[in-house]
Amino acid sequence: MAGDMILVVDFGGYQARTMARMLRSDSVYCEIARPREALRTLNRSQCKGVLLAGEAADEALVDAGILAANRPVLAMGGAARGLCRALGGDDLGLQAEKKTALLSFADLPLFRGLVESDRYLNRVDMLELPQGVKPAAFAEGGMTPAFALEEKKIYGLQFYAEVNDPDGLRILHNFAYDVCGCEPWWRLDSFAEEAQKRVREAVGNGTALISISGGVDSAVCAVLAHRAVGAQLKCVYVNTGLMRLGETELVKQMFQSLGMELICVDATERFLQRLKGVADADEKRDAVADEMLHVVADKAAEIGEVDCLIQGTIYPDVLSERSSDNSAANDRRTLKDHIRFRRLLEPLRVLFKDEVRALGRVLDMPEELIHRQPFPEAGLAVRCLGEVTREKLAILGRADAIFREEVADAGLDKRIWQYFAVLTDVKTRGIRDGVPASEYALALRAVSSKDAISANYYRLPYDLIERVVERVTAEVPGVGRVLYDVTGKPPAMIEWE
Ligand code: XMP
Repeated sequence: MAGDMILVVDFGGYQARTMARMLRSDSVYCEIARPREALRTLNRSQCKGVLLAGEAADEALVDAGILAANRPVLAMGGAARGLCRALGGDDLGLQAEKKTALLSFADLPLFRGLVESDRYLNRVDMLELPQGVKPAAFAEGGMTPAFALEEKKIYGLQFYAEVNDPDGLRILHNFAYDVCGCEPWWRLDSFAEEAQKRVREAVGNGTALISISGGVDSAVCAVLAHRAVGAQLKCVYVNTGLMRLGETELVKQMFQSLGMELICVDATERFLQRLKGVADADEKRDAVADEMLHVVADKAAEIGEVDCLIQGTIYPDVLSERSSDNSAANDRRTLKDHIRFRRLLEPLRVLFKDEVRALGRVLDMPEELIHRQPFPEAGLAVRCLGEVTREKLAILGRADAIFREEVADAGLDKRIWQYFAVLTDVKTRGIRDGVPASEYALALRAVSSKDAISANYYRLPYDLIERVVERVTAEVPGVGRVLYDVTGKPPAMIEWE
C-alpha cells in the first residue's frame, strides 16, 4: 500500500489485531507482522512508526534493527517489558496484577488530552529502567506503568490502551498522528476506487473469473470487480446441494438486483456421489472442498481463457495462513492450482472483516448480502451428522427453513449471530399417526458471539422453541424429537461437526 503506515508487530494474544482495527478506524493504515518479519516489512513500506503489541515479554522478539530504524516505537503490555530489557533495563518481577489504579501521565505528546483517572492494570512489573529512560506514567506504590526514551521517541506502556480504557484510542491516535506524523489517508471509498482501478488495469480487455460462495467476502469482491470490468467478469456459483433451502435462488436474485448474471452450476449429484459412504467430519469437509475446486475448474475450462483469477481473500485469512505452522493447511490445494490463468488478484487482501462489510456499503450492496450468517464451506454436510444422504439433507433443509422462518417472524433474525438446525444421526423412539415410529432427533442451535472465537447460547423464548418443535414434528416427516442446544463455546464448537 502506498501511503503512511504504522507497523503493528504481533507479540501474541489478540491485542495486535484489536489495535490495528482501532488505527484503521482512525484513518491510519497499518499492517500486522510477526516479530521476525517486522524489519523486512518496515523496510519495504512507508512505515512511520512501530507498535509492539501483545503478551510475550521476550526481549529476543524486540528486533534491534527496529530500534535502530529511527522510527518511533510504542510497546504495550508484555511487549513493553520485553522492550525494557532490550534497551538494557531489567524486569524485576510482578508488582501488581488485575487491579485498578489511579494513573497520572508525564507531559508528553503521546499522552496529550489524557486526564488522571482510574485504569485497569492487568499486570505491572517492577522495572529497572535503562539509562536515559524515564517513567512516563505514575501510580501508587511507586509503580511504573509506562516509560519513555523521549529523544528517540521510544515508549513502553505496561497496560493495554484498548482494554477497559476510556483513552485507549486517544493514545493510539496521538502516537500515529502527533508522534509519528502520519497522514490520515485510509478510507474505504478511496480504497474502492483504487482497487477498481487496479482490477481494470490487470484485466485489460481480457476475462476475469471469480467463484462466489454466497458469503460476504466473495460477494463484495465480485461486486467490486464487476464495477471495474463489467461483463468481462465471469461469476461462477456452484449449487452443491448442501446449501440451505432457497439459498441458491436468493443468491441469484441478490446478484441480479445488482445487475450481475451468475453462471450457476448445479453440481448436487456430483457432491452427493462424492460424499457417499463418508461419515467422518474432516473427510466430509475435505471432500466438499476438493469437489468444489474440480467443479469450478471444469466450468472455467468451458468458459475458455481466463486472464485473471479473482479471489476474495481477506486480511484475517492472510494472517492465519502466515501464522499456521500446520503444513497440511499450507499444502492444501486451492483454485489457483486447478485453473490456468495469467494473474491472480486478491483485491480485499488487506481488509479486516468489518472493513469488507463497510466496503459493501460503499458499493451500495444490499444489507442482506453484507450481513449474512457465517456458513461452513461444507454447508449442510457438517450439519447433517454422519453420512450425508439425499433423504437426510431434505429433512434438514426443511427443518432448518422452519426454524429460520420462526426466528425471523419473532424479529430476532438480526440479533442472533448464528442459528441453524442440526440433524443428528440418532433415530429415536416415537409415535406417528398412532403407530410406533423411529425418527431422527434434530437439534436447534442459536448462539450470540462477536467473532466466533467464543460464543454463548442464545436464550430463545420458550414459546418460539415450542412453535418450531410443533411445526417441525408436524411438517417434516422423519424428525421425531427436537433438542435445544444450550452449550457455550467453549467447550462446544458452534458447528456440531
Ligand atoms: P466453530 O464450529 O469452529 O465455528 O465454532 C466458528 C465459526 O466458523 C464457521 N465455520 C466455517 N466457516 N468454513 C467457513 O467459512 C468452514 O469450513 C467453517 N466451519 C465453521 C462457523 O459457522 C462459525 O461461525
